[in-house]
Amino acid sequence: MTLAQQLESALSHSLTSLFGERTTATVTPAADSRFGDYQSNSAMVLAKTRKTNPRALAAEIIAALPSDIPATAEIAGPGFINFRILPEKYTARILACASSPTLGIEPVTEPQTIVLDYSAPNVAKPMHVGHIRSTIIGDSLSRIARFLGHRIIRDNHIGDWGTQFGMVTWSWKNILNEENLLANPLAELLRLYRHASDASKADDSIREACRLELVKLQQGDAENLAIWHRCLDLSKKGLQEIYHRLDVSFDFWLGESSYNDELAPLVEKLVAQNIARESDGAICIFSDHSITDATKDPFLIRKDGEWTDFPMMIRKSDGGFNYATTDIATIVYRDREWQADAIWYVVDHRQSSHFQQLFHVAQRIELGHIDLRHVAFGTILGTDGKPLKTRAGDLPQLADVLDDAIAAARSTVNERSRLETDEERAALAENIGISAVKFTELAHHRMSDYVFDLAQMVSLEGDTAPYLFYSYVRSRGIFRKLEREFILGQDIFLSEEAEQNLARLLCRFAEVLPTVLDDCRPNILTNYLLEVARAFHSFFEACPVLKAEGVAQQTRLTLCHLTAATLEKGMGLLGIQVPERM
Ligand code: ARG
Repeated sequence: MTLAQQLESALSHSLTSLFGERTTATVTPAADSRFGDYQSNSAMVLAKTRKTNPRALAAEIIAALPSDIPATAEIAGPGFINFRILPEKYTARILACASSPTLGIEPVTEPQTIVLDYSAPNVAKPMHVGHIRSTIIGDSLSRIARFLGHRIIRDNHIGDWGTQFGMVTWSWKNILNEENLLANPLAELLRLYRHASDASKADDSIREACRLELVKLQQGDAENLAIWHRCLDLSKKGLQEIYHRLDVSFDFWLGESSYNDELAPLVEKLVAQNIARESDGAICIFSDHSITDATKDPFLIRKDGEWTDFPMMIRKSDGGFNYATTDIATIVYRDREWQADAIWYVVDHRQSSHFQQLFHVAQRIELGHIDLRHVAFGTILGTDGKPLKTRAGDLPQLADVLDDAIAAARSTVNERSRLETDEERAALAENIGISAVKFTELAHHRMSDYVFDLAQMVSLEGDTAPYLFYSYVRSRGIFRKLEREFILGQDIFLSEEAEQNLARLLCRFAEVLPTVLDDCRPNILTNYLLEVARAFHSFFEACPVLKAEGVAQQTRLTLCHLTAATLEKGMGLLGIQVPERM
């Protein structure tokens, strides 16, 4: 049990003994460690419902705390209860974490089946930096949720069916370069797409030709299907290469096309159930007016001072199906085949009205028990504060972004690394570059836009991946100097303030990690790791390890070991592998 859990259980015990009925209590880390380590506002909350004096109630609660509570307790302010963990309880917890393969983190008591829908680029269209955010956030969430004991299904819902195939097929038949296609499939497919997209903007007859290619594909034309299959195979191969570089993987690649056969019957069913109806030749889902507050109804929009319909289209007037239709079919599938308890979509915030509608439809088709979340994120900006673009004004391609990051990392490595061989330096630069991209992404609140500043991201100073690498290498370095690995000993004593501060933080790992999933915010973990690193450096400067002896040395070695293990595990959960040397 974490220290917070031990306090909560002691507090609940006290409340239950006072009030009879089972009462649960929560404690939070204290805002200011001068007044204690944790605090609870339970007395204040209960005093309000019971109409009694909160300070008097707090005194009663404290008097009824069980004797095995790991802390001292006192009343503060209007009726807070402040807890200060007993020193021997900190050492016991540190030893328990240091000897545990999971660093004291216990699996959740009620594991959920969570489908993580992330990355999901569109085949034969650019996989741009917007997809990078989805890929990195989704990967990290899946690692954390899996580590905490949930059953995780990582599904890459690629856009492998849609208007872009009309364009690519048209270009394929006109300007394909086989040699380029084999050498760099993603680039050649992108060229084909861009060519047709530009041409159809300039010339309506080409737009029509592209549309006809799409219709032929959808009707099952053999030649167009063969082209589509090759596009898909080549794209997947190209994507796999990028995922491999990023160390990202999936359990399924059920792209949009996997649901093709289910769309027509689904639309029929929704019509039969009166959930969808005809409108100007198309089939749409309108508001069912079950939400009384119009501002919260995703099927209404305010136009010229009035609420008007904002329907979700599920079949176009030409008979084609929509992105939304596929997404409804996908939820049905994930419920039926996987019994999903939750589906988390890591997708750009610009799709939020789509997801609000989709989640409402899920309730209407009785799939409202699934925890459906749109894990939205903002935009990546260039150093000019505008959405990131290449010099030519295009959306930057993910592979190029990674290459640029690695090039920037090389200069950090050349200036600062102590590694001798070129090979080691190249490997370190590769790791720093990719880790810097990941860490910067995860360190920001996902809803905020952030500036993509390569020089800063690969710097050793600041809240960066290389700073954490350096912290890890420093905490491990002590064992290299001693020429032995860490050996757990029971005799430790936290005498210095810097030791206590570091120990307090290290004990919190198991408390912090689960909170990342409350609102799908990996930046809670990055903040925590940065705090650990800062506390570690303060400790390391204040408390010599090699020159210390006996209990003092054993204590400090234990803190070095647990710092290293926490940073390694924490970074691993962000999809980042720390280097042993740098
Ligand atoms: N392919 C879509 C895009 O690039 C993202 C798909 C997200 N997943 C989903 N189930 N809608 O915008």
